[in-house]
Amino acid sequence: MRVLGIETSCDETGVAIYDSEQGLLGHELYSQVDLHAKYGGVVPELASRDHVRKLIPLIKQLLTNTNIKSSEINGVAYTAGPGLIGALLVGAAVGRSLAWGWQIPAIGVHHLEGHLLAAMLESPAPSFPFLTLLVSGGHTQLIQVTNIGKYSLLGESLDDAAGEAFDKTAKLLGLGYPGGPALAKLAEQGNPDIFHFPRPMTKQPGLNFSFSGLKTQVLTTWHKNEKQNKADIARAFEDAVIDTLIIKCRRAIKQTGLERLVIAGGVGANQRLRERMAQFTKQIGVALFYPRPIFCTDNGAMIAYAGALRLENGQAEPLEFFAHPRWPLENNCY
Ligand code: KG4
Ligand code: ZN
Repeated sequence: MRVLGIETSCDETGVAIYDSEQGLLGHELYSQVDLHAKYGGVVPELASRDHVRKLIPLIKQLLTNTNIKSSEINGVAYTAGPGLIGALLVGAAVGRSLAWGWQIPAIGVHHLEGHLLAAMLESPAPSFPFLTLLVSGGHTQLIQVTNIGKYSLLGESLDDAAGEAFDKTAKLLGLGYPGGPALAKLAEQGNPDIFHFPRPMTKQPGLNFSFSGLKTQVLTTWHKNEKQNKADIARAFEDAVIDTLIIKCRRAIKQTGLERLVIAGGVGANQRLRERMAQFTKQIGVALFYPRPIFCTDNGAMIAYAGALRLENGQAEPLEFFAHPRWPLENNCY
């Protein structure tokens, strides 16, 4: 089965074609970063309008670059949530309409399922069961993945997601948008031994996270230091987030006995996180998997892949398309 995947849940327009026998045949990504940068964050209405402008040309470009005709596509998958409702509706409307025009089935995919399974596009792919640390702009979750569609949530952030903490902290330090990569870049020049921030919720048992207090610590420290040592503060912040994630992964691995760890979501593109996770998993003899950095952040390939699995499993949806700005992953198991 050959599936066109469409991702428009936030500020990236992503499209891809996945073939269940031949693998990923192509993908295209258009980022709206420049559009939102001057506002310091994503402006939902501008995001929707830009998806309207870019999505169909991007699909045409994908078909041209892959040399695939629309008649050779057997299914369409689009992100149906969670995300910005206007942005989601663009992908859902275009995806559903193409499927109707081409007389092929369509399916709305859960954005987090896309992230969860993105590492399966790599070689070697993780085999089931595995533990996923999903660290994106909207979510920080530890999920036990027993099989496709069998996900159980072990812990999650009670407030800010890890990516959100990166973004808000970057904004406080005047680093602009997108904050995560900017803060990570600055942290590279920082001395790790100058400041130390707490590792939130690691003293209590359990697998939940809380990152909202860290930005206040950063702000207080920055003001106390008369707005000096920005890079050292960024480094201490990054280390605090990474250490916390590692402590909770260690705990989750101990609790579940799982032998494979998958890191997914935008923060998974963080280089220091990747290095530290590699050391940690090596120490405890657990195999570590990631999607390539471009598939850690939002993309069409993960949606094409997750959609192909569901369509092959006989799932498809009627013409009334849907989009959910909020959508718990556990309501999406089969
Ligand atoms: O998965 P994603 O593209 O979108 C959501 O589904 O939320 O994740 C975006 C998040 C943003 O918060 C961004 O700042 C963060 O991932 N991010 C990073 C890095 N690259 C992206 N955070 C830290 N270091 C990075 N290199
Ligand atoms: Zn995402």
